[in-house]
Amino acid sequence: MEKLSVPSPMAIAWKYTLLLSFVLSLFIVTSAVSESDILLTFKNSIEDPMNFLSGWTNTTGIHYCNWTGISCTRTFPFSVSDVNLQNLNLSGEISDSVCKLSKLTSLNLADNLFNQPIPLHLSQCGSLESLNISNNLIWGPIPGQISQFGSLRVLDFSRNHIEGKIPESIGSLKQLQFLILGSNLLSGSVPIVLGNFTELLVLDLSENPFLESEIPGDIVKLNKLQQLLLQGSGFYGEIPDFFLGLKSLMILDLSQNNLTGGIPRIELFLPNLVSFDVSRNKLSGLFPNGVCEAKGLINLSLHTNFLNGSIPNESIIECTNLERFQVQNNGFSGNFPSWLWSLPKVKLIRAENNRFTGEIPDSLLEAAQLEQVQIDNNSFVSKIPQGLGKIRSLYRFSASLNGFYGELPSNFCDSPVMSIINLSQNYLSGRIPELTKCRKLVSLSLADNNFVGEIPESLAKLPVLTYLDLSQNNLTGSIPEELQNLKLALFNVSFNQLSGRVPFSLISGLPASFLQGNPGLCGPGLTNPCSGDKPTSKTSSLAKVTCALVSVALVFALVIVAFGFYLMRRSYNRKSQLGSWRSVFFYPLRVTEHDLIMAMDEKNARGGGVFGSVYIVNLPSGELVAVKKIMNFCNQSSKSLKSEIKTIAKIRHKNVIKILGFCHSDDSMFLIYEYLPNGSLGDLINKPDFNLPWTVRLKIAIGIAQGLAYLHNDYLPHLLHRNVKSTNILLDADLQPKLTDIGLDRIVGENAFQSTMASECASSCYLAPEYGYTKKATEKNDSYGFGVILLELITGRKAEQKGEESGESLDVVKWVRRKINISDGALKLLDPKISSSSQQQMLGVLEIALRCTAVTPEKRPSMSEVAKVLETINSRASLSNPQFSGPL
Ligand SMILES: *[C@@H]1O[C@H](CO)[C@@H](O)[C@H](O)[C@H]1NC(C)=O
Ligand SMILES: *[C@@H]1O[C@H](CO)[C@@H](O)[C@H](O)[C@H]1NC(C)=O
Ligand SMILES: *[C@@H]1O[C@H](CO)[C@@H](O)[C@H](O)[C@H]1NC(C)=O
Ligand SMILES: *[C@@H]1O[C@H](CO)[C@@H](O)[C@H](O)[C@H]1NC(C)=O
Ligand SMILES: *[C@@H]1O[C@H](CO)[C@@H](O)[C@H](O)[C@H]1NC(C)=O
Ligand SMILES: *[C@@H]1O[C@H](CO)[C@@H](O)[C@H](O)[C@H]1NC(C)=O
Ligand SMILES: *[C@@H]1O[C@H](CO)[C@@H](O)[C@H](O)[C@H]1NC(C)=O
Ligand SMILES: *[C@@H]1O[C@H](CO)[C@@H](O)[C@H](O)[C@H]1NC(C)=O
Ligand SMILES: *[C@@H]1O[C@H](CO)[C@@H](O)[C@H](O)[C@H]1NC(C)=O
Repeated sequence: MEKLSVPSPMAIAWKYTLLLSFVLSLFIVTSAVSESDILLTFKNSIEDPMNFLSGWTNTTGIHYCNWTGISCTRTFPFSVSDVNLQNLNLSGEISDSVCKLSKLTSLNLADNLFNQPIPLHLSQCGSLESLNISNNLIWGPIPGQISQFGSLRVLDFSRNHIEGKIPESIGSLKQLQFLILGSNLLSGSVPIVLGNFTELLVLDLSENPFLESEIPGDIVKLNKLQQLLLQGSGFYGEIPDFFLGLKSLMILDLSQNNLTGGIPRIELFLPNLVSFDVSRNKLSGLFPNGVCEAKGLINLSLHTNFLNGSIPNESIIECTNLERFQVQNNGFSGNFPSWLWSLPKVKLIRAENNRFTGEIPDSLLEAAQLEQVQIDNNSFVSKIPQGLGKIRSLYRFSASLNGFYGELPSNFCDSPVMSIINLSQNYLSGRIPELTKCRKLVSLSLADNNFVGEIPESLAKLPVLTYLDLSQNNLTGSIPEELQNLKLALFNVSFNQLSGRVPFSLISGLPASFLQGNPGLCGPGLTNPCSGDKPTSKTSSLAKVTCALVSVALVFALVIVAFGFYLMRRSYNRKSQLGSWRSVFFYPLRVTEHDLIMAMDEKNARGGGVFGSVYIVNLPSGELVAVKKIMNFCNQSSKSLKSEIKTIAKIRHKNVIKILGFCHSDDSMFLIYEYLPNGSLGDLINKPDFNLPWTVRLKIAIGIAQGLAYLHNDYLPHLLHRNVKSTNILLDADLQPKLTDIGLDRIVGENAFQSTMASECASSCYLAPEYGYTKKATEKNDSYGFGVILLELITGRKAEQKGEESGESLDVVKWVRRKINISDGALKLLDPKISSSSQQQMLGVLEIALRCTAVTPEKRPSMSEVAKVLETINSRASLSNPQFSGPL
């Protein structure tokens, strides 16, 4: 009441607040405009053929902090701190206008096509801390004025064409933590200024083949250095005695240089050392004491040098993390360090071609992770340890040309993954044990030992055995018939005491020299015919030639006959397909079965899937239809088949493909679908340049969800799709999605459906995890498949793709689960090709995708719920988009 009468102090204060906020907003607007204009000026000098920067414009109302590649300070007033335009095919000029962004700390233009000298003018960017122009076409020398980049912590010029000497003035960049100049054309010698980089964590001068330099001794001062990468450059001379200083060193790679002399004594701990690689040099001398005191050491690689001497056996206890030990092809002598055989993490031991002596202890068992042992061509004198067969991961054991003696332990081939065993040229004796457990054994060589007894029959039961060398032993008895069943590429039993008839396929398929030296063996083509066979030893060479000619002719005749059969069978197949046909058309298709079958030429095939290929058929009327040829169906009665197909064909929904008809005979079945020229969503995602805008992706997701929800809830009878995957989503001309291959289980029969799905490995990542053990299909299986498609749309990754680091195939669900736990992981999952203005929506959709792909089916939402949530996200987006059109 009193407010009305007198202007109270409250009201006055209110007025001033208004005025102040007006002034403030003016200030914000002007500062905002100027930063966006700076960015637009910067963009002006850049060529952007793929239009990745098309969102950089002040017309759409998207705040520049949300433009592609831009990050701002977190606090008001928002100001550009980070410009990250890597891998966008950009070229043109890197303009210094970007330096007007007063808070810019990081500029990343890596993986583009900028073709110019080092952009020295960027040194005007006063607060720049990180400059990354790796992997461009930058050329020319590093100018002396590089010293002007005094504030840089990260300098990455790697993988360009930078040439010339490294200037001494680079030594004034004292803040540097990362100095990355690898893979360039730098030459001359490295100036002695590296000692100035006291903050340095990574020094990479690798792969600069024109460098011609000693390793600067002042590196010893870099006590924070974690990685020293000098491989593949022209470093020569001795390795300086720098380990004393490099206390933080984790990775040392000096391989592929021209280093000579010895390895400096490392009498101190390098507790963090993980990898030590000095291979492919010209080093020599004694192996230093103490490398293995490095607690963190994982890879020790000293192979192919000119190293001499022995490996010490003391003070090694700290080496328990060692995984790879490679000292092959050197001149090492003395006792092989026996501690290696009991390291708990060791996987690889390679020491072949040295002069090591010693034994393999029975305690080998403690090396439970061991995968590969190669110690050929040394002077070991030992029995084969009993523990060998107990190491479940061992797949290669190669110890030829040594002094191994005694009997083979009966378990020597018990590792379930064992593939290669080579024990040739030793002094082993006794019988060869039966081999029953190593079902993966590919190669077994026991040549040139003192084995006696018979060839074990169990060899014939090893399914992939391909190389078998038992030559030069004292084996007796006959060659087991069953060995014929193997696909042997090498079968050498020469120089034993074998006798009896040689199985025919072993004579005909392999060189005779593999059988020689066994006077008791007989068979056609050998010097001894078996009693009862016609003598063959006296056949004249003319007869041999005739024989050869005859067999060639025979083979030829056989081929012709076989080909004739093939042709007959083909035409028979076609005829039988034309046999008794039953067809039902749900649309007026003016086509006969005959036309259809004749039109289904391989050249019209368009892939298809495990249930059969799809052909695009041009009907006499000029219409195109897609015909799916179903394979592997059980013969249900014609009547029930017809009713099942009718059930599916009657579905009418904008997101379900139309079935126009079908025809079938006893052994063939064709489903005729409407033809959509745009192919499948899967094809689109599989293209390397998959680049649908987010709004379109969301629209597609909504369409699929609505289609599935309709099948699950609204259509009678309720149907399951049972094979939801992106290649079963076709797109029409407006990119409206249509489900295809619905309910094939009803058409092919449940058993045929299950066995076909089981054989389909490629799409297995769309199958819910419970699919393996419950046979009962539910709606939640479809939800899972849909979740996988959502993840494909969100991340831009294929459902199954090779992992970046490991190279192993990784399905998108696993990939996402791995990344999501890292902080900011969710943001890093989003397809980088989509502008950050859609982030909020994508995160919302990601949440649904995660629920759909939950491991337990109960946690997955129903498709109708999914469709609703997606629609809400979509409508909320169109409301909230004009968020930045006002003056903030
Ligand atoms: C961006 O907007 C400002 C005014 O808000 C205008 O002066 C400028 O020309 C615009 N820049 C471009 C590139 O359109
Ligand atoms: C960027 O966009 C998101 C979501 O659209 C919004 O929350 C955020 O405030 C925007 N950032 C700036 C600096 O405007
Ligand atoms: C860059 O352009 C090349 C060919 O011009 C193209 O193959 C490549 O996919 C493009 N890279 C990106 C990230 O778009
Ligand atoms: C420079 O950018 C590339 C590409 O993003 C990246 O791989 C590299 O690690 C960056 N360099 C540094 C020192 O961070
Ligand atoms: C290296 O650091 C020293 C002492 O800080 C300094 O005098 C010298 O100029 C620096 N070297 C270079 C090349 O900047
Ligand atoms: C090592 O030096 C020789 C001659 O001195 C040269 O031919 C060879 O290319 C050098 N190797 C490397 C890896 O630099
Ligand atoms: C050790 O070597 C293996 C095989 O070469 C490699 O995959 C792994 O990354 C290396 N580990 C380290 C820490 O260098
Ligand atoms: C290696 O040792 C042998 C004798 O064991 C010796 O003749 C040879 O000179 C040594 N080589 C080097 C490079 O030390
Ligand atoms: C094979 O055995 C016989 C006696 O059984 C023996 O005389 C002969 O030396 C043995 N040959 C080889 C190569 O061990």
